[in-house]
Amino acid sequence: MSAFGAGKVILLGEHSVVYGHPALAGPLSQGVTARAVPAKSCQLSLPATLSRPQRAQLTAAFARAAEVTGAPPVKVSLEADLPLAVGLGSSAALSVACARLLLQAAGAEPSHKDAVRVAWAMEQEFHGAPSGLDHTTSAMEQLVLYRRKPGAAKGTGQVVDSPRPLHVVVTLAGERSPTKKTVGALRERQARWPSRYERLFTEIGRVSTEGAKAVAAGDLEALGDAMNVNQGLLAALGLSSPPLEEMVYRLRELGALGAKLTGAGGDGGAVIGLFLEPKPVVTKLRRMGVRCFSSQLAGPRAS
Ligand code: PMV
Repeated sequence: MSAFGAGKVILLGEHSVVYGHPALAGPLSQGVTARAVPAKSCQLSLPATLSRPQRAQLTAAFARAAEVTGAPPVKVSLEADLPLAVGLGSSAALSVACARLLLQAAGAEPSHKDAVRVAWAMEQEFHGAPSGLDHTTSAMEQLVLYRRKPGAAKGTGQVVDSPRPLHVVVTLAGERSPTKKTVGALRERQARWPSRYERLFTEIGRVSTEGAKAVAAGDLEALGDAMNVNQGLLAALGLSSPPLEEMVYRLRELGALGAKLTGAGGDGGAVIGLFLEPKPVVTKLRRMGVRCFSSQLAGPRAS
């Protein structure tokens, strides 16, 4: 028995989504696969390379999911084809894969709502208070405009259909800062100067909604512009850094319709570029020694 959870990229609206504003995110074809075999107790088999705190966190999250689903005793192993802990939703992908697998093992045919519910319980162990954007996108496996009502724990994703193929090139730059640290530092600035930060969050929310409309209208140039403006606003929030900015400019020089950091930002992490023809760009970037791959987030697929 096996189940898959997709990684994700946030096209628009990270961070401001935590404060109740809309964000646009799509699933990657890369993600985490969980496999189960019968066992004496419910257990997660972990690679020896993980640190002690990582093992403790994963074990606690898995125990939570086993309890919520009432799964029978199974031994679960994980396999990822996605770079981990760089802002591409690997913990949400892992949570959704485990949630689907344990629900299946418990005899249910999991809907995306069930997967979100169980993955949410797991994500509390990884992030504390996530916006819910990552695992909702992973479970729905569609491009979604996600919004959490202010003060509410969870939000909802509205599917955004794209009449055109929507390709991104995902690159990695610098050394990633933990999401908790970036989110916490922004929370301190926001608490000190609330109205200034709220103005920026509101503008990012508007740009995200405009970006979703641009996707639905097939206007990828307008989506790219929204991404560029969003990058400027993320920099204004103090979430960018020289390695991220350098990669953003490199992608724009290679013809990206838009480029920005994706995920938590900080000292490093993932940077995305929107391209009509991603393959030659990946080839060029790899020749330059950049770690990258491309993924189609939405729209008609070439047969
Ligand atoms: O980089 P990631 O995958 O941890 O994404 C974080 C996205 C934030 O908006 C910064 C936090 C959240 O909970 O939505």
